[in-house]
Formats: sequence, C-alpha cells, structure tokens
Amino acid sequence: MNTDLPLLSVFNNGIDNTITRWCTPSIHPSVPRVRGIYENDISVSYHSLGNPSMDNGIFHQANVLAAKAYGAQHTLFSVNGSTGSNFMVLRALKNQLGNMKMLAQRNVHKSISVATEDYHIDVEYLDPHYEDTLQIFVPNTIEEILEGLRVTHANVLLITNPTYEGLSMDLTALVKAVRAFKNDVIIYIDEAWGAHFPFSDRMPTCAMKAGADICVQSTHKQGCGLQQTSMIHWNDGRIDISWLKDSYKSLMTTSPSFHLLASLDGSRYFMEKEGAEVIGKLVDLAAAFRQRVNNSGFLRGKVMAIQAEDLTQNFCAQTDATKVLVHLHGFSGMELAKKLEDYYKIIVEKYEANNILFIMTFQNTKVDVERTVMAIETEIAKMLPESLHFPKFPARIEKRMSSFVAKTKEKDTVRIEDSVGRVVAEDVVPYPPGIPLLVKGEVIHQEHVAYLEQLRKTKDLLTVIITDESVNTINVVKE
Ligand SMILES: Cc1ncc(COP(=O)(O)O)c(C=O)c1O
Repeated sequence: MNTDLPLLSVFNNGIDNTITRWCTPSIHPSVPRVRGIYENDISVSYHSLGNPSMDNGIFHQANVLAAKAYGAQHTLFSVNGSTGSNFMVLRALKNQLGNMKMLAQRNVHKSISVATEDYHIDVEYLDPHYEDTLQIFVPNTIEEILEGLRVTHANVLLITNPTYEGLSMDLTALVKAVRAFKNDVIIYIDEAWGAHFPFSDRMPTCAMKAGADICVQSTHKQGCGLQQTSMIHWNDGRIDISWLKDSYKSLMTTSPSFHLLASLDGSRYFMEKEGAEVIGKLVDLAAAFRQRVNNSGFLRGKVMAIQAEDLTQNFCAQTDATKVLVHLHGFSGMELAKKLEDYYKIIVEKYEANNILFIMTFQNTKVDVERTVMAIETEIAKMLPESLHFPKFPARIEKRMSSFVAKTKEKDTVRIEDSVGRVVAEDVVPYPPGIPLLVKGEVIHQEHVAYLEQLRKTKDLLTVIITDESVNTINVVKE
C-alpha cells in the first residue's frame, strides 16, 4: 500500500483476488459492465441525455424498462442506497398525508428511524419477536399487524421484508388482509434485501407482485448492482406521484454518478434475462453448503447450518434460501469470523454472538464452499466453547412520546440501574439483534435494565450503540 494514497493504491492494485466473499455486493460476472469510469464521466450539462432528477431522456427510458421488469407501474433509480430511498419515500408520504401515523415492525433500518425523527413522523412499533436460540428477529404475524392497525389508526404500514436473515412474511396474504381491514392504508415495504425476488419463483413473493403500494430495494445487495445502487418502485392509487418526484428531486444529488445509474440499467437487463436461472443456482449452492456443514463429522454437535425449511416451518411463511445461517453451539461467531478473515481471507456477511450469516453471491462456487467449510472445521477444533447466557430480548414497548418530541427535551444522564420508569432520550441498539432495545421517547423497564447489565458483561462479544460505551449510564428525558 502507498501510504500517500491509502485508498487509491489499494484499489488500483485490485481488491485481493484471493479472498472468498460471502457478502454483498452480489454481482454476476456476466452482468453488462459500465465502462470508462473517467472517460465517460459527465454531468447533466450534457442536456440531450436528459436529467435523472427530472426523470427524462435516457434516464426515463431506463426507469420505464425497470418498472416493467420489477412488476411496478413506476420506478426511479437512486444512488444513495436504500438509505437515501427511504428518506425520499418518507418525506413524500409525510408531505402527501400531513397527519401521518406509521405502524412498523421493530426491525427498521436506521434510515427509517432517523428520517421519521427528522420529518416528525409518528411511529408505533409492534412488539418484536426475537428467537433466543438462533438470535434472530422473527416477523410479526398478520393478526398482530391488523391488531396494530386497529389500535393505532395508522395510515401507513411499513414492513421490513425480508429480514436480514431472509425471513419473509406471506406478503400477498398480508396485503389482502390489510385492504380488507382498511382500504386506504399505504403499504410500504423496505425490500432492501429482496432486489432479486422479482426474478425467481424460488424466492419469496416480492412487494410489487404482492400488491404493496411502494417499496425500496438495494440493488447492490443481491441484485447485481454496484455499491450504492437502489430502486424505488410504486403503483398508482395511494401514492401521490408529484410528492414522490418532489422528494426525489430535492434529496438526490444534483450530480449523480451516471455510472451508478447505468449499472442499475445493466442489473435490470441481466436479471430479467438470466435471473431465474442464476438465482436457482445460488439456492442449490446454499443447499450444498448446508449439507456439507451438517454432514461434517468434525462439526457434529458444534456447528449447524439452519435448514431453510426449519425457518419456514417455525418462524415465517417464506425464506430467501440463498442465505445460509450457521449456528455455533456455544462458540463465538465473532471469534470464528475473525479467524476466517485473518487466516483464510474468507469474508462473511455478518456474525453475531453464536451465528455467522453467509450470503451466496453470484461470484461464489462449490470450491468456495469446500474451502470455507474446511476452514471452519480446522478453526472450530482449536476453539473453546464459552458459557454465555443471554437474557430474553424484552418484547414490551411502552411509548410515552414521539422520538422527535423526546429529542427536543432537556436531558439527564443517570446510572442504568437507576433508570427504571424514566423516558429514554437516546436510541439504544444492541448487536445482535440489531433492532432497537429502546427508541427515544419510550419508558425504560426493569427488563431493559437487566438486558443492558448482561450486555455490559459480554461487551467483548456484543456491541451496543449507546452514548456511554461502557454501558454504565443512559440519557433520559429530564423530569
Ligand atoms: C432493511 C434495510 N433497509 C435499508 C438499508 C439501507 O440500505 P443501503 O445500504 O442500500 O443504504 C439496509 C441496509 O442494510 C437494510 O438492511
């Protein structure tokens, strides 16, 4: 590495092609490539190309083709990931509805919690389900969602579907049930992890096919796009197109990379033609991965790959079978993931206390499976199990005020032990499970305190996003 050019020199020498990656972006080698990063870099001053913010010229043509491919009536390309797309959609919905109340599952991405705070959107969260053994968030049931709509009178329903691990609701049944309950509720799906769903019937039903009103996708995750690429899809009826286009124009940079936008065009083209076949191959590769782990004599009783059917039988209606969740009985996910990266250059999508998530990407092969499972066998043999005890993730949510109101209040900092009954003034997010334990404006209960005390003890294995990194104090609203 040239220390004067730390970033550029590493990239110019190529990201080490000996790495084995089980993480995004998932880009098929045959996707039409964007060429000429420097030579073709150009701005909206080249008027005859059109303007992406105005949705005209070649940009409009590409959007129209994408809408057709992804099963929507309209599509816009976005260059700040689903993060930017969520901001655009929430700003548009708030302006359209004025008095907006949103019901959401607890597994929202931070772009949602930050945008709702900034745009003063009132959010009610459904009590979360957390599977303690597998340490994963499990979707709420349709009945719970309908009950949530009944109690909160929300006019927008946001569902993050699928979850990070690929667990998916029966979206078609959900949409039908919500429409029957109240026809004008806007159904908004954060489908960041489902950009490949529209192209294979071996994947969960995608939001647009299920009849949702609007969704965002991270095309860069599993949909063949370059990093940052995302799409917003929507259908006519409940979405005011003028507000959406206003948000798009207002929040999109005035100098978006045409290379990224062109990469989205290439992703759409490839997935439309080849998606079914290449996704099918990934599902088969994932099955081979699980089988190899579960048939290994070295790993028996220590490591288990969770079968896709176990997830659909026990926790959700459908699952993205290109994801392999590997559960470690008592071994640390962080320790194993670190050894895989340091000693074998095997990069995993994420690790948790006792889990590792492998995403089958379009770059992976059977050789990668063998190399990875052999590395796991070698390292697990040298590792010692740890006797960790995680408390149950508290499911009860008691909201006292909206997060945007809590943000404006004067604050106190108190010891966590002394915080029961106080209203929290900061978001507290432990990883795992990566879903908020507490959101600004909620009441702290004894279960939250017990959970944080336990987290403090296991601090080396888990992370918690909280102002006091030593997890001794917490910010609360002044009384
Ligand atoms: C559910 C969900 N929504 C939105 C995002 C943001 O996506 P991006 O990285 O494309 O900005 C993520 C990122 O992981 C996510 O998991």
